[in-house]
Amino acid sequence: MAWVTAATDWHDWHLPYDDDTSPLSRRLRLVQQHINDWLDRRSDPLLWVVSVCAGQGRDLIGALAPRPDADRVRAELIEYDPRNVAAARAGIAAAKLTGFTVTHADAGDFAAYRMVVPADLVVLAGVLGNISEQDVRATIDAMPRLCAPDATVVWTRTRRDPDLTPAVRGWFAAAGFAEEAFDAPSDVLFSVGVHRFHGQPRQAPSNGRIFTFAG
Ligand SMILES: C[S@@+](CC[C@H](N)C(=O)[O-])C[C@H]1O[C@@H](n2cnc3c(N)ncnc32)[C@H](O)[C@@H]1O
Repeated sequence: MAWVTAATDWHDWHLPYDDDTSPLSRRLRLVQQHINDWLDRRSDPLLWVVSVCAGQGRDLIGALAPRPDADRVRAELIEYDPRNVAAARAGIAAAKLTGFTVTHADAGDFAAYRMVVPADLVVLAGVLGNISEQDVRATIDAMPRLCAPDATVVWTRTRRDPDLTPAVRGWFAAAGFAEEAFDAPSDVLFSVGVHRFHGQPRQAPSNGRIFTFAG
């Protein structure tokens, strides 16, 4: 997976996805599997999904494109880089995912979520490794304001030293989530977690900072 520096180009960050054997592609397949598992489990006729810092949306688009029941899903992909916004919109059009939209906005502010919460699935991929430890905690604490009852959060986080994932898993538990999966392959540094919300949803404010993205 690309090392993130202050000058990370968030468009080029996606290039390892073109190599099926890259750790980023392996991580993508796990995230997509968890998205599929979530949708298989839910029989609701209409479900709401939000992707925080969605990038080019490869996880949701790739998971939903082949599914005959994709029209059950209304997804909002929130992304800041205009090139990634354009790529995500092109991917959505090519896959004919009519229930998907991309919002060009700062996902670190509650204002970006006005139209899509409470959500039944929150995709939090590539976020928790790019914000401060304090903001990781604040973002997890904010999840009950984004989640509908019984919602699922699929998240990723590097286990590069110092590995914050034990704390992340504890913070999800403290915020009212039960762990459904934690994938941490021994030959790579990424991890993918799945947590299911059993707490009380809370009202999201109309605006206010959740996190500030590094780089
Ligand atoms: C590590 S990448 C992850 C992309 C995607 N979620 C994935 O896993 O493939 C982080 C993404 O966050 C976007 N980003 C950075 N700051 C943001 C912000 N304040 N609001 C929304 N997106 C942001 C970047 O442009 C980049 O596409």
